[in-house]
Formats: sequence, structure tokens, C-alpha cells
Amino acid sequence: MTFVPKDVVFLPESTAAFPDRWVAMNVFARTAFGLSGEIFRLLGTLESDPAAGGDGPFRCWRVEYFSNEDGLLADPSRYRRAPEDWQELSLDRSALIAELKKHCILIDDEVAYRERFKPKRNLLDRERFGNFHQQHGQHMALTRRKDPADWWMRQKFTADQLSVRSDTLYGAIQSKFLERYTQERIGAGTLVVDLGCGTGVYSNLMASRGASVLGIDPNEAYLTVARTNAAPGTRFETMNIGQAGALDRIPTASADIVFMSDALLFYFVPFYPGQAADIGVLLKDIRRILKPGGSFVSLEPHGAFYLMPWLGAVDRPFVVVTEYLNKTFGIVPPLSQLIREVTQAGFAVTDMREIVPADYFENVDPRGHHFASEFPLWHLFEFRSLADPA
Ligand SMILES: C[S@@+](CC[C@H](N)C(=O)[O-])C[C@H]1O[C@@H](n2cnc3c(N)ncnc32)[C@H](O)[C@@H]1O
Repeated sequence: MTFVPKDVVFLPESTAAFPDRWVAMNVFARTAFGLSGEIFRLLGTLESDPAAGGDGPFRCWRVEYFSNEDGLLADPSRYRRAPEDWQELSLDRSALIAELKKHCILIDDEVAYRERFKPKRNLLDRERFGNFHQQHGQHMALTRRKDPADWWMRQKFTADQLSVRSDTLYGAIQSKFLERYTQERIGAGTLVVDLGCGTGVYSNLMASRGASVLGIDPNEAYLTVARTNAAPGTRFETMNIGQAGALDRIPTASADIVFMSDALLFYFVPFYPGQAADIGVLLKDIRRILKPGGSFVSLEPHGAFYLMPWLGAVDRPFVVVTEYLNKTFGIVPPLSQLIREVTQAGFAVTDMREIVPADYFENVDPRGHHFASEFPLWHLFEFRSLADPA
């Protein structure tokens, strides 16, 4: 039997200029297809009357695209919002049903469909949906043929690699927040270790506030950029993090602050499957490196709403949260897991912020601005290293 799975929502997307358009979105599979009203009605009666609606032709549209190609923080809903960009099709009944099945708007077998929500077996696996990292890696390698490291730098930083792009949510949220926060928190002589520093843009920002910053990263391509652009007060070293002994060259009790941004998440869901780094090892290292009473500052994607479809009108952000505690797609841990790991490693939570975009972004990307003003995309935690009970 062919039927619409429970995971599909229908959105009216008609305008005066483009009437009678609907989007059917499978919010778990993150697939979408554009439908005219007659298809919408056909789907409503398909189970009770398999021949309902006739043979067509049916007006429908290709609306789907890999929206994160525009940036990791781009609209995650993966369908084209502008109806003038929809690619119109006219399909007979069997071609329509095939297209709806391809987009998981119709399925034949619930068990086989649920099997698809598993990690991909390899880069070529299009059957299983896999997690976000896998989907992104597959798209970059097979469709775009781009180096993910190069792409990551371009989507986050300006062409000269010196600052964060202000036309992205990274700029409007993360960078704007850190400009204020570092002023508040860092002064002349503050000793900072920036773990997973990447290209060192935030290391340079902290140094500009008077800190002495040691940036650490395993990725040589990023560190080459960091060394080229190094501000006075910074130095950058190649070390793996999260592996036993990797940070032994950093002296014990040598930092006031250990800072991590967008890096701790990889200790919960590894970037490459099977390459899990050990968060226990990492936290033990952080605790050793910090001076007594020093702080571990972690700026990470928010645990609840990252990468979920944003629906609704531009100024009415609805989010379809498809998972929180049990992740198949998501790449950030639930808050309880994060807090448990860190407190069990000997830290106490001393501050937490949920960060929203700066006002200017409303003119850059109104939909992104309204969404992220309601559902924070990043949080910052400050964890204080507790005195060793031993
Ligand atoms: C998304 S980038 C963030 C870089 C920088 N902190 C920033 O905010 O721009 C993540 C960084 O963490 C590093 N990293 C450290 N440990 C990692 C791990 N276990 N898996 C993946 N990346 C890791 C990567 O090399 C990369 O530079």
C-alpha cells in the first residue's frame, strides 16, 4: 500500500502571482516537493481510493535544493522560497507517484523507510539519510567537488580571512557577541588557550583585548592561514585534541581561560564516522591546563534548534524540531549530556548565555534574523574548574 508517512507536513505557498502551490515537506528526511491543489487532494484520498484523481497530467514543481551549500548557517529548510525559482513539471500519474516516492512524500513500506534513518555506509550511499556531516560531505564531494576545508573558510570568513562575514549568521551572532564578550572578559595579560582555533580569527580578537593566546588545532590548512594572519600576542601550534598525550606540551596551570568555539560538538558527533575523539581526555586536559579557578569558555551551536527546518512567513518563525534527545541527523548534544560530561570532569557551570543576532541583520536576511531572534543558534557556557578534591 502506498501512503503519506506521518513525517510529512503541507505548507500553502501560493501568492497572487503564483496561485495554487503547496510544498510537501518530509521534515525528518528533509525532502520537499511542490504540488498543485489537485495533487494535494489526490494524496488525501489515495489510501481509500488508489485510483482517485485520474491520470493527469499534474502540475508540480521541483523546489528542493541543498540550502546549506550557501553556508552552514543558511536556511536549513532545503526548499526554494521564491516561487519564481520553482521548476515546473507536468507529469502523468505514474511519473508523479515516482517523484513523490523519491522525495519521501509517499512510501510503500514503513519498515524499509525507517531503516533509511541510519548513518550512511559510505560517501556514495544515497539510500540512508545519515547525519548532517555525512549529507554535507556527500554533497561537497559528489555534487560540488569542493574541498570542505576551503569551502568552510569561504562560507564563514571574508576573502582576506581576517574577519567573519557580516552577511552570515556567524557574523551577526557569533562574531558580534564575541566582540562584546571579549571586552567584558579579557584584559591585558589574560592567558588564553584557544582549542580548535581553526584559522585563528577569534584568537586574534582575544589578543586585540590584551590577551596572550595559544591557538591549537589539528588541521594544518587552517593553521597556515592562522600563522599568516597572526596578531601580536598569538602563537599557533599543531596538536590533536581529545587524544591521550596530545596536549602534553602545554604546561599545567598555565591558562586563565581555555576557549573553544564550534569545536566541542565534534566530541559528541564526530566529523568523520568512526573517528571519535574522547571528550573525557579533552576535559581532563582542559582542567590540567587551567590555573586553579580558571574558566573553560565554550561557544557552541545551541542544543535544541540547530539545523531544523524554519517554516512560516518571513516574520513568523516556526521550527519543526524533529529530534532532541535521540539524534540521527543532529550534530550537537542535548544540554543534559553536555552538562553531565563537563560537571563529571570537575567543572561547575558559572554562566550561560543564549545568543541572538545583532539588529543590523534584519536588513541582510529578515527570515534568518526573525528565526534566530526567537531560537538562539549558539550558546555560551562558562565552566569553572573546581579545586581537585584529592
Ligand atoms: C568549525 S571549526 C571552528 C574553528 C574556530 N574555533 C572558529 O570558531 O572559527 C572546528 C575546528 O575544530 C578542530 N577540531 C578539533 N578537534 C576536532 C575533532 N575531534 N573533530 C573535528 N574537528 C576538530 C578543527 O580542525 C577545526 O579547526
